[in-house]
Amino acid sequence: MTPGRAGKGHGGVASPAVGRDLPRVDGPAKVTGTATYAFEHQLDDVVHLYPLQATVARGRVTAVHTGAVEAMPGVVAVLTSDNAPRLAWADDAELAVLQSDAVAFRGQLIGAVLAETSEEAREAASAVLVDYDELPHDADFPGDRSRLYAPAEVSGGFATDTDVGDVEAALASAAVTLDQTYATATYHANPLEPHSTVAVWEDEGLTLYESTQGTHAVATKVAALFGLEAGLVRVIAPHVGGGFGSKGLPHAPVVLAALAARLVPGRPVKLALTRQQMFCLVGYRTPTLQHVRLGADADGRLSAVSLDVVQQTSRIKEFAEQTAVATRTMYAAPHRRTTHRLAALDVAVPSWMRAPGECPGMFGPEVALDELAVACGLDPVELRIRNEPESDPQSGKPFSSRNLVGCLREGARRFGWQRWDRAPRSRLEGGWWVGVGVSASTYPVHRMAGSSATVGFGADGRYRVAIGAADIGTGTWTSLTQIAADALDVPVERIALQIGDSALPPASVAGGSSGTNSWGSTIVEAARTFRDKFGDHPEDGDEVDASMPPNPDTERFAMHAFGAQFAEVRVRQDTGEVRVPRLLGVFAVGRVVNPRTARSQFLGGMTMGLSMALHEQSVLDPRFGHIVNHDLAGYHIATNADVGTIEAHWLDEHDPHVNPLGVKGIGEIGIVGTAAAVANAAHHATGTRVRSLPLTPDKFLL
Ligand code: MOS
Repeated sequence: MTPGRAGKGHGGVASPAVGRDLPRVDGPAKVTGTATYAFEHQLDDVVHLYPLQATVARGRVTAVHTGAVEAMPGVVAVLTSDNAPRLAWADDAELAVLQSDAVAFRGQLIGAVLAETSEEAREAASAVLVDYDELPHDADFPGDRSRLYAPAEVSGGFATDTDVGDVEAALASAAVTLDQTYATATYHANPLEPHSTVAVWEDEGLTLYESTQGTHAVATKVAALFGLEAGLVRVIAPHVGGGFGSKGLPHAPVVLAALAARLVPGRPVKLALTRQQMFCLVGYRTPTLQHVRLGADADGRLSAVSLDVVQQTSRIKEFAEQTAVATRTMYAAPHRRTTHRLAALDVAVPSWMRAPGECPGMFGPEVALDELAVACGLDPVELRIRNEPESDPQSGKPFSSRNLVGCLREGARRFGWQRWDRAPRSRLEGGWWVGVGVSASTYPVHRMAGSSATVGFGADGRYRVAIGAADIGTGTWTSLTQIAADALDVPVERIALQIGDSALPPASVAGGSSGTNSWGSTIVEAARTFRDKFGDHPEDGDEVDASMPPNPDTERFAMHAFGAQFAEVRVRQDTGEVRVPRLLGVFAVGRVVNPRTARSQFLGGMTMGLSMALHEQSVLDPRFGHIVNHDLAGYHIATNADVGTIEAHWLDEHDPHVNPLGVKGIGEIGIVGTAAAVANAAHHATGTRVRSLPLTPDKFLL
C-alpha cells in the first residue's frame, strides 16, 4: 500500500507531501521563543527544587542536618529518605528514590530542598550537612578481570554470546589474521535542554511537564512507582530540546520531583538539572573494550570474525549494552563468535545514548577491517564489498533490502576516494599529514509495539490526527503531518497534528530510530480506517481510533539500514593536533519522508560521531567514583569551529517490507561508523594506528 498516491485527490492534492522538504511546522514557534519546553510552562504558586546528592561512592546516610536549613529564607521543605513518601513499587533501584538511606554511587540523590525561588533552594541545599557511614567502593574499569560476568541477555533482548562454526580453528588456519583490542570511552549525552520536570499533585492525580522522549513511558512507570492507575498520571511534552537517549527512559530526577510535589499538594514543583547533575543522574554510554580477531584468506575473504566485549554496568541495576550485536550481521564469515562481559561497579546507571550498541560496537570491528585491508594490500572499500553476505549471517533470513555496497560505491565516487594513494603517511602539506578513511555504518529497523492514533474531522474542515508521539528535535511534528496528509489525501494545511501528551492515544518512545516507522504506520492505518468508514467527505465529529497493525514481514526478513562514512583527516606533524576538514556519508534508509529534516539528522549524527572521535570522554576518578570533567568546560564536544564540510546523501532505496511507508529510521545511523572512519583516516595520514578513543594529539606523538 502506498499512502501517498499519485494523482489529484479529493483534497486537491497534486503531489504527495512525503518526500517534500517541508519546513518544520514547529519552526516559527521555536525561533520566536513561543514553543514551550518543560520548565517553561507558566503555572501559579511554583516551588523550586534543588537536589541533594551523595558525596561518597558507597555507604549509608546516617544523618541529614536540616534544622538550620529549614529556617533559611524561602525554604518550604527539606526532603530526605526519612520523610519521603513511600513508593508502591521499588524494584527498580535507579528509580526507588529516597526509599532507603543506602548510597550506591557518588552523585546519587539523597534528598532535596524546596524553596520559593530557585536561588533560595540552591543556597539552602549548599548549607545542608550530611553524615555518612562510608563503605569501600569499586569504580575501576575494567579493573580485576576475574569479577566480570555474563549477563543473561543484552539490551534489546539479544543473546549475550553467539558462537557459530569453529573460530579458533579458522583463525589457526587463516592466511592473514588480526588480533587487537580497541577502546571507546564513557560518554554523556548532553542535550541542549537539561532534564526538567514540573510536577503537580491535584486530588489524587499527578501532572508532569517533562522533558522526555516518551510521555506514555514516563506516565506508565511513574504510575507504577506511586501505585496509581495509569490514567492518573499525565505527562506533557510538546517540545523537547534533544534527548539522544538520555530522556528515553525515566530516570531518578522525575521521581524526586514527583515525591517532592507530594509534600506540597496543589503547588507545582519545578526541577531543571544543572549540567553537572546531568553527569550523574540520567544515564551515559558505558566504556567498552573490544577484543577483535579476524581471519581471512590472502584475498581478504573473511573466514573468522570474533568480538569479545568488556563493558560496565552499575551494581544496583544492570544495563548491558548490545555492543557486539551489529557484528553478527555485518559481514559474511563461516566462523563467528561474539561475547559480552560486564563489570558491575559502584557507579551511576548506564543507559541509552544515540545508537546504543551499534555506535560503540562498530568502532573496533571497522578499525580492525581497515587494519586487515592494510595487511592484505587491499582497498578498504573493496575489502568490505568482498565480504558482503547474501543473507543475514546471524539469522539466515534474507535482508528486506541491503545497500551497503551501493553506499560504499556512491560514497567513494562522491568523495573522490580513488584519487588518493593508499600508502599511509604519503601526503604532507604545510606541516600537516593528510589522509582519508572509510567505515561502514548500520542500524536496525526497529518497530515498537503499543501505538494508537485517533483521526477526526472538525468543523474547520481540518483533520485532527492525535498520537502521543514525541518530537525531540528530530522533526516529528513535520514528518507526521506529511504522512497524515498523504494518508488522508489532503494538503498538509488541513492536518491538525497533536503529539507530546500522554492524554493522547498511546505512542511508543522516540527511541531506536523507530518513531517514523511505528507512529507513521499507525497514522496510515488510522487514516485508512477513517476513509473506509467515512469516505472522502466526512462530517464534523467523525472520528476513528486505530492501533499499529502487525507486519508479518518482520519475521521473514532481516531489516537494517546501512551507510558508508568517509573522512579526510589532517594531523599536525609537530603537535599531533587532529582536524577533520571533510566528512561524507551515504545512507540507505528506505524512503526519506522529509529531505530537510532527514539531512539534519544525518549531519547531527555525523557531528556527534566526529565529536566522539576527537573530543568526548567522561573521565571517572576511581578513587572517588565521580566524573571529574562533569561540565562542558571539561567535557569537550565538537563545536562549529571543529566541523569542516559535512555532506550527507542517501540512495533512492525502495523497501516494500519494512512498513507501508517504506521508511527505515534515520535518527541514529548517522553517528555509527564516523569515529572509525576518522581513526582510519588518521592512520592513513600518519601511519599511526590509534585504537582507543578519543584521538587526542598525544596519541600521534611517538
Ligand atoms: Mo535512542 S539512544 O534509541 O533514544
